[in-house]
Amino acid sequence: MPAKSQSSDDRKTDGGVLYVGIDLGTSRTSIAASNGVRATFPSFVGYPKDVISRKLLKVDKLFGEEAISKRLSVDLYRPLEHGVLKCGQGNDKDANQRAAQDLLTEAVRRANPSPGELVYAVIGAPAQASIKSKNTILEVARESVDSVMLCSEPFAVAYGQDLLADVLVIDIGAGTVDLCRMHGTMPEESDQLTLETAGDFVDSEFERLIQASHPEAQFTINMVRGIKEKHSTVAETIAPIEVQLPVQGKPTAFDLTRELKEACQAIVPPIVEGLGRLIATFDPEFQERLKGRVLLAGGGSQIKALDIAIEAEMRRTLGGGRVTRIEEPMYGGANGALKIAHDMPEEYWENLK
Ligand SMILES: Nc1ncnc2c1ncn2[C@@H]1O[C@H](COP(=O)(O)OP(=O)(O)OP(=O)(O)O)[C@@H](O)[C@H]1O
Ligand SMILES: [Mg+2]
Repeated sequence: MPAKSQSSDDRKTDGGVLYVGIDLGTSRTSIAASNGVRATFPSFVGYPKDVISRKLLKVDKLFGEEAISKRLSVDLYRPLEHGVLKCGQGNDKDANQRAAQDLLTEAVRRANPSPGELVYAVIGAPAQASIKSKNTILEVARESVDSVMLCSEPFAVAYGQDLLADVLVIDIGAGTVDLCRMHGTMPEESDQLTLETAGDFVDSEFERLIQASHPEAQFTINMVRGIKEKHSTVAETIAPIEVQLPVQGKPTAFDLTRELKEACQAIVPPIVEGLGRLIATFDPEFQERLKGRVLLAGGGSQIKALDIAIEAEMRRTLGGGRVTRIEEPMYGGANGALKIAHDMPEEYWENLK
């Protein structure tokens, strides 16, 4: 750690330390830094498969979109699963840890630290990540940053919005939906819930529904996700969603309106059921206030009219509720983590190097 300067504010503005907030997600890694830089890329790392592909690619690792597009020449890793490091056995485990380490190093590189600048990072981890997986993330972070803190992802989102009391956060990622109840202190175990009905779940529901109604259509899960990200909606009335999919190699038009809406709608009841559990176990005097302050964040929250659909389901099963979508859902976690980094006193930082 650097020598303590005169005041904590000096320390935070002098050139010595770059503060970064990192959202290390299953599908996307996002970083927001105190120098104003922000970056986001899919959480993929690719290593050339052999000498030929290394010669062709001219690098020994690729990240994000580039790694995905070159997937035929690289061994592709998505090192996180349900928001935690995949814990395979032996070589697999080591390979995933190395990939996670490379992912973090790349995120920090993209934040563009000046030479010699120390990097202090707050990393968002899933609300219910086990102690073991938190330790693994800390271990991995050791290689890329000088000092690190972990915080729960939904806590970071709420912190970023300056809403720390009587708020419910819904963070819809790829692998998990994290629900967190904020009541003016650090959230505890009982304030948090993790559901698996997130973006990947919508993709597999959508895939299943297309297969059932159009068995002749040819597609991959990546194509399904692409269609979802372009058209996702739970709005009452919408223009038909028409897409081209090959049938025996020939592009053919399909109307997937019903399938996509149904797949997107499928995440609403479990989310509201989870909200209901967090509300019911809260101080009865504050339950109504909590229902009126629900924040929606994460990539998966970009489904059109999702806020309205959650409100409707809350009315039906919980007697009311008000949902606000945060601006920039993709950076909600990283922005909040950066804000925590700025506000944390020196003694909270764990010195790594
Ligand atoms: N426009 C969109 N409509 C619906 N879903 C979307 C849209 N854009 C992205 N997504 C979905 O958002 C999910 C990724 O969200 P996010 O980047 O917040 O996840 P993550 O933080 O990487 O995952 P996790 O929190 O599970 O670790 C993916 O399932 C992706 O398909
Ligand atoms: Mg996330």
